[in-house]
Amino acid sequence: MSAAGSGSGSGRRPRRLTQTGPGRAQQASRGRDVRAVDADLVDDWGDDDWEEDSGPRDSLTDVPGGIRLQKVLAAAGIGSRRHCEELIGEGRVEVDGEIVRRFGARVDPQQQVIRVDGRRIPASEDLIYVALNKPAGVLTSMSDSRGRPTMADLLGDVGERLYHVGRLDFDTEGLMLLMNDGELAHRLAHPRFGVPKTYLAEVTGTVPRDLGRQLVSGIELEDGVASADKFRVMERLGNRALVEITLHEGRKHIVKRMLAAAGHPVTRLVRTHVGPISLGSLRPGATRHLSVKEVGDLYAAVGM
Ligand code: URA
Repeated sequence: MSAAGSGSGSGRRPRRLTQTGPGRAQQASRGRDVRAVDADLVDDWGDDDWEEDSGPRDSLTDVPGGIRLQKVLAAAGIGSRRHCEELIGEGRVEVDGEIVRRFGARVDPQQQVIRVDGRRIPASEDLIYVALNKPAGVLTSMSDSRGRPTMADLLGDVGERLYHVGRLDFDTEGLMLLMNDGELAHRLAHPRFGVPKTYLAEVTGTVPRDLGRQLVSGIELEDGVASADKFRVMERLGNRALVEITLHEGRKHIVKRMLAAAGHPVTRLVRTHVGPISLGSLRPGATRHLSVKEVGDLYAAVGM
């Protein structure tokens, strides 16, 4: 049964998503339930039974066949219909750069940019944003001619419809973002937008006090200097150490090459953050849908 059929009698109520296990992203992303939402806040999903426009007119042209703004906001997980009406009435909702105060304004969530308190929301029902904790030994692709495990094994069929944001090495673990929002995925991966990625690395050798300074000021690699944005030693474990490094470089094997060039080869690498999104307690191999706030944070991180 699709998630759209599992809600209210109208079959339109998004439901709260919990952390999904391998393969469940596919199930969870069918239909409308791609957003985290308090199901109990969105109780009445009657069709266009809304009261007609009550606020002052604005110059936004209603999109013929469009969907009422408060309905779009509620479906995106902003809150109950009533809460969304309040937001509109308070002048906190923008459509294509214009504040809209009419409850009945009809918009096209596929084409128009909708913001609440200046933050863009993923308004189109078709948009899917997933975080995956990629285990070591899984390829960052959806198929492999050599039969190695791929992300498709964890995501199911939905994976084929998603772009992955950058790559992790076969033996690297951690946060991978996947989405069908091509422009956002492109910007998150492109070094020009400078989105920082944070890694925990287990390295060998006794880490000197000035390793951070070396890495931040830049380290010579065969394809040019690479520098970290931040670096700290988390733990010293005899002849090994656990370090955290943040950088916005996109070059292949960049963390391993930087640390190896500094004399501390990496024995284990885990990505913990991509911009504002944290791996948190997501189990290896598990997926979860990003919340509306997290997607808004991603848009903000790349100026969308
Ligand atoms: N840097 C690496 O060396 N490997 C990765 O997988 C990601 C960043």
